[in-house]
Amino acid sequence: MLGNFSYCNPAKLYFGDQSLDYLNEELPKYGKNVVLIYGGGSIKKNGIYDDVVKILEAQGKNVAEISGVMPNPTLAKLYEGIEIARQHQADFLLAVGGGSVCDYAKAVSVSVNCEEDPWQKYFLRFEEPSCETLPVGCVLTMVGTGSEMNAGAVITNQETKQKIGHVFADEKIIPRFAILNPRCTMTLPHRQMVAGIYDIFNHICEQYFSGTDDTTSDYISEGLMRSVLHASRIANKNPQDYEARSNLMWTATWALNTLIAKGKSTDWMVHMLGQSVGAYTNATHGMTLAAVSLPYYRYILPYGLPKFKRFAIEVWKVRPEGKTDEAIAEEGLKAMEAWMKELGLAMNISELGATEDMIDGIADGTFILEGGYKVLDHEEIVTILKESL
Ligand code: NZQ
Ligand code: ZN
Repeated sequence: MLGNFSYCNPAKLYFGDQSLDYLNEELPKYGKNVVLIYGGGSIKKNGIYDDVVKILEAQGKNVAEISGVMPNPTLAKLYEGIEIARQHQADFLLAVGGGSVCDYAKAVSVSVNCEEDPWQKYFLRFEEPSCETLPVGCVLTMVGTGSEMNAGAVITNQETKQKIGHVFADEKIIPRFAILNPRCTMTLPHRQMVAGIYDIFNHICEQYFSGTDDTTSDYISEGLMRSVLHASRIANKNPQDYEARSNLMWTATWALNTLIAKGKSTDWMVHMLGQSVGAYTNATHGMTLAAVSLPYYRYILPYGLPKFKRFAIEVWKVRPEGKTDEAIAEEGLKAMEAWMKELGLAMNISELGATEDMIDGIADGTFILEGGYKVLDHEEIVTILKESL
């Protein structure tokens, strides 16, 4: 049965190759003091920085910058950004970058007016903000996380080796607007593009592989997965294909704006495993997911066999005639494995720098969630991680 839910997503999206123009319409809605937040410099190389600064200047904004937000943003960097935003008496945070920059902006937003330590409050106790938050806008340059239209923020504490995400319940944390110009993603290195593609695909899987009922969310998910597969094959051969890159950008947003989670319990264990691997290796998010996925799915397959069979038939077009359910399901995972190799994804965690002596620590750092087909215990997590080595 489709469970009970409410759904509201206030992010306004501007999509297409002219979408940056709409920054001119959005900025006047917010105060004068803007903090421009970006990463390690890709936006300076590809010209997006200049375009954005020109618009900010034309609007007469008083701009401070937080630069150098790294992939998998750290808690130390968060503290630094909170101070800059406070000193600037920021009215508005403009994130220009990928999921890391966008997540980081949300983390600054909920912390600027908060007296408590953000790590304790938001990432260890998973509390909601009890202070005023700052509005965030996003110009997206890397596709995958869905951060542009959700209330999630992931921060890494390098000292404790914990990478923790908090999906805030308060929809004010979702960016007020997001500018999605597929051309802004064309300069992404191939490795980042495919990592993002796998991130999209896995977000859909995490929501799809739960429940045994007949939900509309699953039909939408299958359509999104088929679109990702089709577009990924085109983009893998020709990264400059605008239509494929547009479809990837659009599916990424829908894969994680919580629509397809509606009415479902959802799983998220691949992300829990991947995040813990990330805390130990600082590897690219999508690659950490790719490296643990197949051992995880093969492990839980017997507990969710009907769904894995449906996945094989509906997503991978496996012909079911004359085959057992197990054989159909396994053929689906084999097709998925072949696609992952075709894209050049990381197929094990050793490639990402994980070693056997890290397994216990990674397992300890893996949050165990309920909602999927099997609630894992610590030993099972260790088994899956060893399989992923
Ligand atoms: O820092 P710069 O120089 O900008 O380079 C970035 C970075 O090195 C580069 N890049 C981005 N756009 C580019 C570009 N290079 C050339 N041309 C462009 N147009 O790409 C690298 C990766 O960027 P990053 O933002 O780290 O990637 P992604 O978007 O995958 O974000 C990853 C972070 O998001 C979190 C992850 O855990 C990770 O910390 N996630 C956030 C989620 C959410 N908010 O819901 C959910 C996800 O599952 C994920 O956990
Ligand atoms: Zn992800």
